[in-house]
Amino acid sequence: MRIRQVERHEWEKLRALRLQALLESPDAFGSLHEQEVNLPADEWQWWVSGEGGIRPGVATTFVADRGGDFEGMATGAIFNVEPELAHLFGMWVRPEAREHGVGLRLVEAVAGWAREHGARELDLRVSDDSSAATRLYGRAGFRSMGERPPLRKASRLTCTVMVRRLD
Ligand SMILES: CC(C)(COP(=O)(O)OP(=O)(O)OC[C@H]1O[C@@H](n2cnc3c(N)ncnc32)[C@H](O)[C@@H]1OP(=O)(O)O)[C@@H](O)C(=O)NCCC(=O)NCCS
Repeated sequence: MRIRQVERHEWEKLRALRLQALLESPDAFGSLHEQEVNLPADEWQWWVSGEGGIRPGVATTFVADRGGDFEGMATGAIFNVEPELAHLFGMWVRPEAREHGVGLRLVEAVAGWAREHGARELDLRVSDDSSAATRLYGRAGFRSMGERPPLRKASRLTCTVMVRRLD
């Protein structure tokens, strides 16, 4: 299993993985399958490089690649308005690949990328419905900021904002 950055030409495989994540774990993310399934092709480039996003900045997605099959993903983004704060999201590992340390390796890959891009902190929002993810982030050094906003607009689900220092 290799953790690596996804490449531009692989956007369709990345799209398929992300849509599968939204279907398999609908209460883990701030977005829904129905909101992303019809996104135009060029919007998927954002996940690769940050190009074409509403907020200017850089982004990348790390995938867990097993012989060409993508088994997990995690995305990092840094927006120009706040260059010292990176964001981690879209973290998902296929159910059959879980509990082998892939999630932790994906987090560390995004943290390393963020550090190299000058960020000093990495934040995320974890669904309060996802205890596996909350435990993973705690082990990876993230601490709760005490904020519990709704996971999605008008949702009964909440999430917890967590932050980790990168230096
Ligand atoms: C959260 C998620 C990404 C974790 O992925 P993962 O690959 O299972 O993560 P890890 O393997 O690094 O850690 C998970 C557990 O496996 C354990 N583990 C890791 N390697 C292991 C090994 N070789 N043998 C046994 N257990 C192992 C870890 O200690 C951890 O245990 P814990 O939960 O009791 O603390 C995954 O469960 C997932 O995709 N969930 C649904 C989507 C989601 O919630 N995403 C987060 C959005 S914010």
